Amino acid sequence: MIILGIETSCDETSAAVIAEGKVTANLIYTQQMHATYGGVIPELSSRAHLLKIAPLVRTALTKARVELKDVDVIAVTAGPGLIGSLIVGYTFAQGLALSLGKRFVPVNHIEGHIYSGFLMNPPPEFPALILVVSGGHTLLLNVRSHSSYQILGTTIDDAAGEAFDKVAKLMNLGYPGGPAIQKSSENAVRKNLTFPIADVKGEYNFSYSGLKTSVLRYIQKHFPDEVIPEQEQSEIAYGFQESAVGALIAKTKLALKQGSYRSLSVAGGVAANGRLRERLNELAEEYKLPFVVPAFEYCTDNGAMIAARAASLIQSGIKEFGIQEPFPSFKSVFADAPLIKRS
Ligand code: KG4
Ligand code: ZN
Repeated sequence: MIILGIETSCDETSAAVIAEGKVTANLIYTQQMHATYGGVIPELSSRAHLLKIAPLVRTALTKARVELKDVDVIAVTAGPGLIGSLIVGYTFAQGLALSLGKRFVPVNHIEGHIYSGFLMNPPPEFPALILVVSGGHTLLLNVRSHSSYQILGTTIDDAAGEAFDKVAKLMNLGYPGGPAIQKSSENAVRKNLTFPIADVKGEYNFSYSGLKTSVLRYIQKHFPDEVIPEQEQSEIAYGFQESAVGALIAKTKLALKQGSYRSLSVAGGVAANGRLRERLNELAEEYKLPFVVPAFEYCTDNGAMIAARAASLIQSGIKEFGIQEPFPSFKSVFADAPLIKRS
């Protein structure tokens, strides 16, 4: 089976091919122009997807050495994400599938992230505890099988990646903020700054807005003219990263303590964070579980994870994808795309 996976939910245009279970192409085009604005501008994002989608799909097929006629399935992110950006990928993929008579599989973006780990060898064993941390999402999931999972907790305000981006912006470190914060934190020497993070009601939920405010207050108090020496930036970046990662670790540990899992995995852009990987690895060792870390190219938004999720849906015989129309509702992040058995 050859699956073409397309992803355009935010600021990455991606096209990938999975042939007989192997990724043979995974091309990702990251839109750079948002850096000027310190965040993603939806209108610019949609327009850039329009420019890139067709050439990217063509190049991915060439790289995978397959022709469109040989593709069996066309899978695409149906949501959640930026509506204008989603529409570009969705209509492109659906049009392609309709015109060629191919099977069309809409995929939930979060379920796509869950499947990053399943692109690795060995993949996570069920039941798997999976942390999805990106610029738009922070979720802890109990993934029981290919057709059943439970959302244990989520953020009640900002996503983890969003907090990295906002704190980086406070210090003029550029966008995206995650890699900049990590890099700056590596030069910390004192390592004695601590920023409090809220312990949210609801056992596994997260909150990041208070942490961002406490960094803001610290900066306002100590650097009223907004000029922060580089060394001080590093100390702040280190303190912030410890708290941000610490909160993810605390809830992951709680879930491991209270549940029964056979593996631990992580996905999403923040999964690229070295400190988070290090601490999750320690946790997995403590609980004697295999820790499945996706390759960097599968952490950020990518078409391979979308194709992988489509493969699992097909293999587990799920014919009903949960959505009857492309975008029934964008009211909640989970209302607009296929979800299997929520509990
Ligand atoms: O998954 P992703 O590419 O896009 C979304 O779906 O949001 O995640 C992007 C997020 C950004 O917030 C970025 O700052 C964060 O992932 N990120 C990191 C690192 N690399 C990317 N956060 C912390 N440490 C990193 N090394
Ligand atoms: Zn994502």
